[in-house]
Amino acid sequence: MKNNDTIYKNVPLTGIRTKEMIDIIIEKRNSMNAKELAELVGFDSFRPLVGIFRYLNKETPKAPKAPKKPKFIIKTAKNTFKNYYGSGKDKARDLIAESIMLTKRQSSNILTLPADTWIMEKNILKKKSGYKFTAVERDKETYLKMVKNMVDNPILSESVIDMANKSIGEVIVNNGEDTYSSAILDYCGFIDSFYQEIDDVMKRNLIKKGGYITITLAENDRTLNNSNYTNSYSNTYIKNCCVDEEINGAKVTNDLINFLVYNNVGYKIVKKFKYRDKKVNMLLFIIKRIDE
Ligand SMILES: C[S@@+](CC[C@H](N)C(=O)[O-])C[C@H]1O[C@@H](n2cnc3c(N)ncnc32)[C@H](O)[C@@H]1O
Repeated sequence: MKNNDTIYKNVPLTGIRTKEMIDIIIEKRNSMNAKELAELVGFDSFRPLVGIFRYLNKETPKAPKAPKKPKFIIKTAKNTFKNYYGSGKDKARDLIAESIMLTKRQSSNILTLPADTWIMEKNILKKKSGYKFTAVERDKETYLKMVKNMVDNPILSESVIDMANKSIGEVIVNNGEDTYSSAILDYCGFIDSFYQEIDDVMKRNLIKKGGYITITLAENDRTLNNSNYTNSYSNTYIKNCCVDEEINGAKVTNDLINFLVYNNVGYKIVKKFKYRDKKVNMLLFIIKRIDE
């Protein structure tokens, strides 16, 4: 049926777009990933949603000026990622991009954590266009900025095949073997929070043979022997394996990644790189799913 209305909540009701469809998209866009949402409203792919997102993110025309009220400061969410730069971060991004360059662009699907600015993905696409991404972000505020920045950038819009405001763990829960061509797990956090997710990605062989799992982690001195973290992987490891040894966050993080790779058959670490983010010492691990 042809629509008589022209615009609804900023979205031109052209083609098969209806008011009901726009309402569903507004209601569900933060809780479902784009592919599921496209299916729900009856699109064949995630792509038509991009245009709708773009209209929804556009500001509504300004109302006549109201009398000035005193300004107040909007607090940003604590876990919103802000630390994009550091002495070694760009080098780490380049090493990650180099490993991706060794994989095919055709039918690629790189699981990634772009945060809002997509620096890593833009860097990859600048080196070689054509790579495709599944973008994940658990923090809502960061996710909304991420969507806005994607729809404003035609090259990124073309390159993102799916995105979700969820944790990696939630996104991969129903994925089958060989779902992704590579994974860029640019966590920049402590291994204890991500140990299980990394183990899951490897154990279930979610990355195709020949693909890479790249992981950035902070040295976790903060959790070592801290009574708040007695049950952490790091402290269990220290308690059970390290006798009379000098222990520090870098060694424990390194050992735990070695342990994960050793225990999941078919993987090898091809590169380790130590660098410094703005505030903390970081470690990059590049793991290959062996293809021979
Ligand atoms: C270090 S930032 C990514 C930086 C970006 N790749 C770059 O090159 O600047 C990590 C982002 O992933 C999100 N994040 C961390 N762990 C996550 C997880 N397990 N699942 C989903 N999002 C996660 C954080 O909220 C943060 O915005």
